[in-house]
Amino acid sequence: MTDHVTCVPSGVGGWGLRCGAMTDRPDLEFPDGFLWGAATAAYQIEGAVHEGGRGGTVWDAFSHTEGKVANGDTGDVACDHYHRVEQDIDLMVDLGLRAYRFSIAWSRVMPDGRGRVNEEGIAWYGRLVELLLEHDIVPCPTLFHWDLPLGLEEIGGFRNRDTPSWFADYAALMADRLGDRVEMWSTFNEPWCYAYLGHASGVHAPGLRDDKAAVTVAHHELLAHGLAVQAMRAERSGLRLGIVINPSPVEREGSPDADEDEMRRIDAIHNRWWFDATLEGRYPADLLDDLGPLAEAIQPGDNDEIHQPLDWMGINYYFDLLVRGVRPDDTERLRNYPTVVRTADADRRAVHTDMGWPITPDGFTRLLVRLRDEYPGLPPLYITENGCAFDDPVVDGACHDPRRIEYLDLHLRALHAAIEQGVDVRGYFQWSLMDNFEWALGYDKRFGLYHVDFDTLERTPRDSADWYRDVIAANGISDPR
Ligand code: FCB
Repeated sequence: MTDHVTCVPSGVGGWGLRCGAMTDRPDLEFPDGFLWGAATAAYQIEGAVHEGGRGGTVWDAFSHTEGKVANGDTGDVACDHYHRVEQDIDLMVDLGLRAYRFSIAWSRVMPDGRGRVNEEGIAWYGRLVELLLEHDIVPCPTLFHWDLPLGLEEIGGFRNRDTPSWFADYAALMADRLGDRVEMWSTFNEPWCYAYLGHASGVHAPGLRDDKAAVTVAHHELLAHGLAVQAMRAERSGLRLGIVINPSPVEREGSPDADEDEMRRIDAIHNRWWFDATLEGRYPADLLDDLGPLAEAIQPGDNDEIHQPLDWMGINYYFDLLVRGVRPDDTERLRNYPTVVRTADADRRAVHTDMGWPITPDGFTRLLVRLRDEYPGLPPLYITENGCAFDDPVVDGACHDPRRIEYLDLHLRALHAAIEQGVDVRGYFQWSLMDNFEWALGYDKRFGLYHVDFDTLERTPRDSADWYRDVIAANGISDPR
């Protein structure tokens, strides 16, 4: 039986903190040069959706459609990062961040997604990069974090087989304009989510409910990734290119009725698909059997286009998937992984974050070790997202968030354990620098090291910000246990 560590509410006050004051030398030290960062994404923080020549995106359209986002929230203003970028860089400096992962809104630099270039948008990201570099913070942009230009959605979005080449044009443009100052790039963020949440369950933009479309989009995203890597390399040498995946261990513990075949299917869709394709140039045979329309989308030569050498890979980890009694015919659950998770053994995983996600740090170690064991071609890894939503209020200018500190502490320990077992992980980006627009769940789900008051837009450091500053300064965590 696997031994999941969970955060157990302890006595009065709820949470027993396992981390203490930092000493000069941490008990668990990370490798020299470990890249400590925080992450955000354009639509979740920028706001200013009608400014600077930005074109519309699927998320503008989706969030303005009644009933799609909690409370009718939209990203129109978000954290107003577009206007407050200098202040937000001060927050990063205050944390001592060594790296910042952000995404570029495709429609800010190419308002229609193809053709016309918007110099004002390029200049805005150029300035962000300059400011980061002035403060010795490594810029790590992602080219696609779900905000597809509306102009492309109108002609089929990623269902259209031409979109991968338009994406490659955009990627080459960015390599040309920013590649002199930015080395580390990722093409896609969590392509599974955009394909499935956006096109099968429809809970994300563009909001379709069409299984075949989801499968086609997934394939075209991978194709776009491969074409973009080639286009960027043709444009400029010396770039370090990667892709960000959100794999999950698929667990059966406490689920004796979990169907073996269903677990295999979930593992294929969430995990093997993305790693087999990008690292080995093939799709899992069982996935092709399971998903009929996938074979229809694949054309000769696609696998080779997708299979490009990568300098690194990004792993986003929040929780594992506990499959419990999923019926083979229950495809609805496969469409939307939070639905799968809701089948988790509630007793064993008594504590959930505000997202309803269980807290499963052991799965993090297992996942990383498994990737290392199963993929000989695995490049160095970066943890590009990890974090939790807990809504602790600001009281008298302070925001105490012991549950976030405990979550992060547990996951850094789990990460350290994987590194000790020889997994090559070079950095960790906490999600997120500040509270932001959490997609279909709006502003209520708060992931930030900084609390954001969405009326005044004031940022207030949480205790976790102080804690993370200490972790970065010490390059590790102390273990008072
Ligand atoms: C990830 C997304 C990120 C954020 C976190 C909580 O799936 O990449 O934008 O929403 O979840």
